[in-house]
Amino acid sequence: MPGSIPPDPATAARNEPPVALRRLLPERGELTADELVGELRPWELATPERPHVAVNMVQTCDGRATVQGRTAPISSLADRQLFHALRTRVDAVMIGAETLRVERYGRIVPDAARREQRRRSGLRPDPLAIVVSGSLKLSADLPLLQDPASRVVIVTASEHSLDGVRADVEYLRSAPIDLSAVFAQLRSAHGVRAILGEGGPHLNASLLARGLIDELFVTTVGVLAGATGALSIMDGAPLQAPVALSPRWLLEHEGELFARYAVGSVAADAPSPA
Ligand SMILES: NC(=O)c1ccc[n+]([C@@H]2O[C@H](COP(=O)([O-])OP(=O)(O)OC[C@H]3O[C@@H](n4cnc5c(N)ncnc54)[C@H](OP(=O)(O)O)[C@@H]3O)[C@@H](O)[C@H]2O)c1
Repeated sequence: MPGSIPPDPATAARNEPPVALRRLLPERGELTADELVGELRPWELATPERPHVAVNMVQTCDGRATVQGRTAPISSLADRQLFHALRTRVDAVMIGAETLRVERYGRIVPDAARREQRRRSGLRPDPLAIVVSGSLKLSADLPLLQDPASRVVIVTASEHSLDGVRADVEYLRSAPIDLSAVFAQLRSAHGVRAILGEGGPHLNASLLARGLIDELFVTTVGVLAGATGALSIMDGAPLQAPVALSPRWLLEHEGELFARYAVGSVAADAPSPA
């Protein structure tokens, strides 16, 4: 309906029956997103030095991560169900400042049933939200920062703090931002063992170039976006050589493909992005 408020994706995904995904790899089967990820225990894969890091992205068949600057046009119900299921399996969800600004994130797990699911797995009901913002140019009225139930760590090179936030906000200062050192700090001082990275592409590129991505979940939707300048999921990652991926699973639903890959090692002499 023109002018109507689009439904909150979390609510929409919650009210819809779970989609059955057709698994093609490793063995054939049919299962929901919750069944698929329910056995994942990424917190057991952390090292003493840093958390285990998985990145989850959606892209078009021509490799675009956005259409007209947004993810919503290329996301589907099945993709959202996987996205929300993955959030139940980690200590923290990490996003770049631009993704927070554009997508206007709110509470990371808005659904009480999913928070209970996390509790049953021995996790805190609400994951820590980690926001990377070199500049700290973030509006305090962003829904995540106005949510009193949310715990947020803002990784920033700025010495300033935000006024008027209602979330429980801490700052992890690093100038310039050294993501390896940040991860060590998140592991030792905040007890973070498993992080789900949700983009955007520029933050992904920084993580990838430093060898800080262990796994990639990628949904490929059956559309071509065309256009020029639209971001790819690791846009601008300064790699010396292509990074190999090893498939862990592949599923299909209505022409969309849902893949999970282990990310291979990154050449040690890869130049560091700014
Ligand atoms: N297809 C998908 O699955 C998906 C997922 C997420 C987002 N998106 C889309 O992607 C777009 C946003 O992505 P983006 O790549 O433009 O931005 P982004 O990665 O979300 O955020 C970039 C910002 O994060 C901060 N940042 C990231 N890495 C940094 C580093 N190494 N050092 C210092 N600061 C760092 C900086 O913040 P400051 O500017 O504050 O300094 C930088 O400008 C949106 O259109 C969103 O809809 C798509």
